[in-house]
Amino acid sequence: MTTEATRRVSRLEVFIARMTAQKTFLEEVAAALDVPGPVLELGLGNGRTFDHLRTILPDREIFVFDRSITAHPASIPDADHMIVGEIRDTLAFCGPRVGALAALVHCDLGSGDPTADLVKRAWLSPLIAERTAPGGYVASGIELEMPDFEALPRSADAERGRYWLYRKTR
Ligand SMILES: C[S@@+](CC[C@H](N)C(=O)[O-])C[C@H]1O[C@@H](n2cnc3c(N)ncnc32)[C@H](O)[C@@H]1O
Repeated sequence: MTTEATRRVSRLEVFIARMTAQKTFLEEVAAALDVPGPVLELGLGNGRTFDHLRTILPDREIFVFDRSITAHPASIPDADHMIVGEIRDTLAFCGPRVGALAALVHCDLGSGDPTADLVKRAWLSPLIAERTAPGGYVASGIELEMPDFEALPRSADAERGRYWLYRKTR
């Protein structure tokens, strides 16, 4: 007999766990954020997490990155804060526009394809590490490899939904 404990986890369950972990991590970080600096949102998509970030962090500047704007009309950043292009290029060269290092980077670029995510991890990790302030946080749907960061504890939802939280130690 297949029980709740032994049956496979469905994609719907993984998705719900992922969204739960994403919301929880962003809210935990928003409550704990004690370093100055903007928020970088990597992946505007529909604009849902951008809208949540601006709701829970109303006093932070939020810069949003995506190769195109396909968001709900109510969730599109103003032109000064929307950075359009390939993130591999824009994140590397956004310094003059963004200014200070980021207090929080939210990376929502996961494809669900393990090989594609490994490729992204290789080029994204150093770019994100470079743009994060000491003491700043990175919440990510891709596991990242960043030597000067500690991986923070993950809930069951984060494990199941494949979401990670890091803090820059120096
Ligand atoms: C999963 S969606 C983001 C969802 C969004 N955070 C939300 O809550 O609605 C990922 C987005 O990242 C963008 N994206 C993925 N890889 C990218 C890259 N290398 N450069 C620029 N944009 C990228 C896609 O165009 C897509 O809009």
